Amino acid sequence: MRKLPDGSVDLIVTSPPYNLGIQYNTYRDLDERDSFLAWCREWATEIHRLLDEAGSFFLNLGAAPANPLLPHQLVLELTRANPAFVLQNTFHWIKSITVTTRKGTTISAGHFKPINSKRFVNDCHEYVFHLTKSGQVPLERRAAGVEYADKSNIARWGHTQGEDKRCRGNTWFIPYETIQSRHKERPHPATFPVALVEQCLRLHGHERVKHFLDPFVGIGSSAVAAQRLKVPHFTGFDIDPDYLATARERLAIDAAESSQQLF
Ligand SMILES: C[S@@+](CC[C@H](N)C(=O)[O-])C[C@H]1O[C@@H](n2cnc3c(N)ncnc32)[C@H](O)[C@@H]1O
Repeated sequence: MRKLPDGSVDLIVTSPPYNLGIQYNTYRDLDERDSFLAWCREWATEIHRLLDEAGSFFLNLGAAPANPLLPHQLVLELTRANPAFVLQNTFHWIKSITVTTRKGTTISAGHFKPINSKRFVNDCHEYVFHLTKSGQVPLERRAAGVEYADKSNIARWGHTQGEDKRCRGNTWFIPYETIQSRHKERPHPATFPVALVEQCLRLHGHERVKHFLDPFVGIGSSAVAAQRLKVPHFTGFDIDPDYLATARERLAIDAAESSQQLF
């Protein structure tokens, strides 16, 4: 990151290691809490330097039942640091949910890893903190929006300008892609779905993103999203060469599949 020029990045969507003891290939994910937070301050300072004044930094963080404060501690660090980020929005990435419809039908959707505990419930969500330099970055709320359930609202609310789209809000239900073989299709212990990154891109306004950075790119989920939404320039880093090799393969497969769909 030190080789990139100041203000040269419009968008960052990333998920760093959470210091929860996840078994990565290369990185050892278990440090003293203070030393982990100091390391986070170090990379976040570089992100601050690289981010354009009108840029967005979407930081995905999860917790563990026995370590519930970590996401909040880290975001507090980043908003108190010098230079500081402003927390502009907080999103909940919902991985699994059960809802009861107005007609009384109960629907469960998504996947989660069940935990065996008398104290803790299954953990079905993570955070996506939207950090900016000013707290004033305009967003494309309806580009990431949803259709009105009640169509009479389209005419009722002037701000719709006749379009059947409303702001989605800050709860995002995005399940993991279903896979047949974890070893072959997702050889990494902690990925986020491509659709989560696409949502961040659309919300920021993907057409104004010229350079997208993911400093912890893993097997390239953010790179695939950037490719699908035709971002002109993407930079990703990972310390593990095998993860990077998988990221390159995924990009090639995804490009081939989307060109097949075109013809
Ligand atoms: C939570 S994972 C990111 C996964 C990614 N979002 C995906 O969907 O594939 C964090 C990644 O950070 C990488 N990592 C750890 N320390 C790093 C460092 N100093 N520089 C670059 N990458 C690092 C790990 O190898 C791991 O792949």
